[in-house]
Amino acid sequence: MTIENVVVIGAGTMGNGIAHTFAQFGYTVTLVDVSTESLHRGVSTIEKNLDRQVKKAIIEETVKSETLSRITPSVNLENAAVNADLIIEAASENFEIKASLFKLADSVCKPHTIFASNTSSISITSIAAVTSRADKFIGMHFFNPVPLMKLCEIVRGYSTSDETYSIIETLAQKLQKTPVNVQDYPGFISNRILMPMINEAIFCLMEGVASAEDIDTVMKLGMNHPMGPLTLADFIGLDVCLSIMEVLYDGLGDSKYRACPLLRKMVAAGCLGRKSGKGFFTYA
Ligand SMILES: NC(=O)c1ccc[n+]([C@@H]2O[C@H](COP(=O)([O-])OP(=O)(O)OC[C@H]3O[C@@H](n4cnc5c(N)ncnc54)[C@H](O)[C@@H]3O)[C@@H](O)[C@H]2O)c1
Repeated sequence: MTIENVVVIGAGTMGNGIAHTFAQFGYTVTLVDVSTESLHRGVSTIEKNLDRQVKKAIIEETVKSETLSRITPSVNLENAAVNADLIIEAASENFEIKASLFKLADSVCKPHTIFASNTSSISITSIAAVTSRADKFIGMHFFNPVPLMKLCEIVRGYSTSDETYSIIETLAQKLQKTPVNVQDYPGFISNRILMPMINEAIFCLMEGVASAEDIDTVMKLGMNHPMGPLTLADFIGLDVCLSIMEVLYDGLGDSKYRACPLLRKMVAAGCLGRKSGKGFFTYA
């Protein structure tokens, strides 16, 4: 099966990066969002990021214009989905939203259309179960910023077929990503390992083991991490970190995934990291 027409649902942080990447590698993309404001913001972010790629001589000016010409914004999923070979969803991290989008797409798509979700933490198996094509349902977990980050976790739901896996693995390679084969368990690989590390750094801060700066310095200089865990948590958003810890705790049932009380307290206080101007550090 050949994938040519791709529908990306959600024009936010991840959706615009995914649309940019597919279009840059020659796919025809319809970028769908419920909000026209998000669509405008998404397309202008793609333009800015393409400009940056041109300035850094990663792509040529003609690639920029060709990439943009392949992206059509739309607020109508029903129309966009009819001709799609692949639907990749990067809407808000909420099961009900994702389930209703895929149910709608399932009712209008062609039988061969593959469905992929970019969810960070929701079970691929349970979203697939609301559709009539669980064998053609898979996780494509990209990383931010999508045009730059090489990894794509390819998450196999309980019913994902070998054929679907193989098509999506080849597709990720065509996008110049490195695909990693992951079974559908909470947090996949990335967040199952990353979030407990961030959570432990927050426990260290709460218990007064060291200051936020010193915790980050240890992990940067001692472990060669490019960014300390508390800076990274601020970047991801503390509310997102808390909700992923809850997914790990609920899904794996082990007390080692208990969210640090300081993390809960900061989220309750509205200290969400960069996006709120304050988390473990302060942002202008
Ligand atoms: N931000 C990250 O670093 C990151 C990394 C990997 C995966 N993810 C996952 O990607 C997904 C999107 O995350 P994000 O950070 O881009 O979120 P975001 O809030 O930046 O964007 C979400 C977009 O979805 C749109 N949306 C909401 N409901 C919709 C609907 N019914 N139909 C169409 N569009 C709808 C919103 O208008 C918004 O533009 C989530 O599942 C998240 O877990 C995020």
